[in-house]
Amino acid sequence: MIRAVVLLSGRGSNLKALLEADLPVQFIAAISNRPDAAGLEFARARNIPAISLDHKTYPSREAFDQALIQEIEKAGAELIILAGYMRILTKAFVERYQGRLINIHPSLLPAFPGLRTHEAALAEGVKIHGCTVHFVTPELDHGPIIIQAAVPVLPNDTAETLASRVLVEEHKIYPLAIKWFAEGRLVISDGVVNVMNPERSQSVLSY
Ligand code: GRF
Repeated sequence: MIRAVVLLSGRGSNLKALLEADLPVQFIAAISNRPDAAGLEFARARNIPAISLDHKTYPSREAFDQALIQEIEKAGAELIILAGYMRILTKAFVERYQGRLINIHPSLLPAFPGLRTHEAALAEGVKIHGCTVHFVTPELDHGPIIIQAAVPVLPNDTAETLASRVLVEEHKIYPLAIKWFAEGRLVISDGVVNVMNPERSQSVLSY
């Protein structure tokens, strides 16, 4: 089993989905940069150490990321999973963990990086939207794509209805991507991920 930490900032529904998925992963800690992150409860409920490092108490982004690195190293993590972690990581952090740092983003990247992706999708009038699990590189919301899921954008959608349709898919594809990683089935070549022997298509269309 590989040892993983999950970084989060809020609700934690993706953390919950990962913990419930029965993955070949030992979750050794959940770390939040916000002490009040509701998602930490999902870790506590399973006796997984829930650590909060309040970023406001550190003098700089670099100092905070160093503290984060210390916690990760102390836990002996081989994989770092970002699950609603709402803080930009320093280049030093990303480079240190490149290839074993994975994120989920609520859009079909490279479309709509950044925040408020559902609002942006509605404003553009796209007819298909979705979510992406990807390896993290220093460029924000960019990096080799592991899996994506797509959902239709419906005529009366609001950002909220669209977000909840996407979230259902997030909870399916994130555990799958982490399973593939844990099984050593993700091979990156020329910035593109190949999944060795996937049990189903790498892209999931959900209609
Ligand atoms: C998700 O939409 C995820 O894609 C994005 O932040 C949100 C986190 O939700 N990165 P949750 O905290 O996992 O419920």
